[in-house]
Amino acid sequence: MGELENLKGRNLLEPGDFTVAEQKALFDLADKIADSPGAYQDTAKGRLLAALFFEPSTRTRLSFESAMLRLGGQAIGFSEAQSSSAAKGESIADTVRTVGCYADLTVIRHPKEGSCRVAAQASDVPVINAGDGGHHHPTQTLTDLMTIRREKGRLDRLRVGLCGDLKFGRTVHSLIKAMSAYDGTGFYLISPEELRVPSYVIRDIEAGNGSTYVETRSLGGAIDRLDILYMTRVQRERFFNEEDYIRLKDSYILDAMKMRPARADMIVMHPLPRVNEIAAEVDKDPRAVYFKQAKNGMYVRMALISALLGEAQE
Ligand code: NCD
Repeated sequence: MGELENLKGRNLLEPGDFTVAEQKALFDLADKIADSPGAYQDTAKGRLLAALFFEPSTRTRLSFESAMLRLGGQAIGFSEAQSSSAAKGESIADTVRTVGCYADLTVIRHPKEGSCRVAAQASDVPVINAGDGGHHHPTQTLTDLMTIRREKGRLDRLRVGLCGDLKFGRTVHSLIKAMSAYDGTGFYLISPEELRVPSYVIRDIEAGNGSTYVETRSLGGAIDRLDILYMTRVQRERFFNEEDYIRLKDSYILDAMKMRPARADMIVMHPLPRVNEIAAEVDKDPRAVYFKQAKNGMYVRMALISALLGEAQE
């Protein structure tokens, strides 16, 4: 059986849920879709995707909905918990079980870590985690890996700097877990002391395929060694008090001057939304790929939806 056929009916809750070979098949399909999206316009005809967003989102929700519509399917859902029965006290398990009676696929974003796993256990249709609290965000990681593969031509032996809020940033946790599965990834974990990566993420690196890491507070001291610089926003909504957020929010601001020592072929990524951590002047630097990354997110979600629905052609 082909790698994509193998994905039919599966959940995507964490990056490790798909093997490297399955990911490769997905990125091959996503590249084909990016080259001729029109050829896939009937792939999900007659199918319905439910997007349940209990937390704010722009890119993730709209890229899922756009992906489904571009595949010829349809999308339903809500974008704030207040407009769902969660406001009446319904459990996520009951909500998801009900939605599975209407839709072929459910996408969930929820502020609580592990909520998607609880939802998946109650669901009869595949569940995709679109972010569970400060834990994981595996479809952002598919977006990131597709972008790295397109820009750098490979996913192994890369030196990846992750900078900013490494404690609460779920895109960071997922990207580290995923890249650790590729050969010889070297991580530079750049953060203030208070926002260092949690120990379970360090364990993912240690369990990886020859991955190494260094932790540092200095972006300037690491930037010239990197193939990829992944900037992140300080996650205000996960702080216990506003004073700590204010103190830490501008720890790193990447600008044209700080980009100077970086390699000519380093790429700058960001899951977006950005706040202050990348100055707008960096946008015109050819090494800045974060808006391309956002576009890739739609194509890779088209590939993912096709595969989970069992409609993907290798
Ligand atoms: C990220 C998220 O929600 O974790 N956004 C996204 O999905 N692209 C990053 C963030 O909010 O900082």
